[in-house]
Amino acid sequence: MTRFQPNGVLWKDTEGNEMQCHGGHLLFADGYYYLYGENRIGENYVSCYRSRDLYNWEFRNNVLTTGSATEKIRQRTDLKLKNEDGRKVNIERPKVLYCEETGKYVMWMHYENGHDYLDARIAIASSDTPDGDFVYHGSFNPYGYMSRDCTLFRDDDGRAYFISTARDNADLHIYLLTEDLMNVKKHVNTLFQGEYREAPAMFKKDGKYYLLSSFCTGWAPNQGKWSVADTIDGLFTELQDFGDETTYRSQPTFVFTLDVEGRTEYIYFGDRWCYNPDRSVTLQGKDPLYFYKQSSYVLLPIRFEGERPYIEWQE
Ligand code: DGJ
Repeated sequence: MTRFQPNGVLWKDTEGNEMQCHGGHLLFADGYYYLYGENRIGENYVSCYRSRDLYNWEFRNNVLTTGSATEKIRQRTDLKLKNEDGRKVNIERPKVLYCEETGKYVMWMHYENGHDYLDARIAIASSDTPDGDFVYHGSFNPYGYMSRDCTLFRDDDGRAYFISTARDNADLHIYLLTEDLMNVKKHVNTLFQGEYREAPAMFKKDGKYYLLSSFCTGWAPNQGKWSVADTIDGLFTELQDFGDETTYRSQPTFVFTLDVEGRTEYIYFGDRWCYNPDRSVTLQGKDPLYFYKQSSYVLLPIRFEGERPYIEWQE
């Protein structure tokens, strides 16, 4: 059965269950699109669904949970996945790339300790299959920097990059990754000094590097912006508006590049976070995830006018 679901409605999987898979990422592997995202319910951190057609989503696994196996790696990381007081840590914006060299699927995430938002670390995990139980390799601050909202980007020369907010979100950093995708290798760029951009999403078109981002307003949506550069470590243009003043009530998650009958389509995926803007609704002891769990996605094709990418609302 093909389900066409309107934008901004919480997706359901092939079993009819609501999909908790937010702040996510798509990876094409073995003939399927794999969708990874945040699942904050119970002991889960990251869920994985797959689809052949991008409409019908089959639940595969909660690939990272509080009970995931842990394994130290060369660099020193903190392997804690749960606090001593039983509180979960925070795992946000999981992104996954496949490493040909090691045959591993490697996940990069934003980690916070679950009590406050001050650790600002990268966390990494890996698996032999796209939807297997990922092994957790811990969290760390790249070269000592803070690192919050993040994304991964694979260039056509095979190089992989991690992009994340730094200096309490004031700046955005780009790091080249090691060939095995298990560490940062070089800090190659610092962007948008003092602009407080978050939710980075990168794609490449006609040899140019496009970066979408939002401003920092917690869960509330704001005006998206875009910027472009000739080289990833070079100069990015001034930020310019993308979408309307709330980016159609969404925040960038990632951009998926799809070949459709020989044409390349660029699909904007944004989270439409469900939140309680004026705290008008009291949860009265109800599920603290009551709002968050209703968050959904907005998908829109990115069109271009010259170099300028734009999106227009479609149901
Ligand atoms: C905005 C970020 O983009 C989200 O991933 C999440 O961290 C919220 N802020 C938390 O306020």
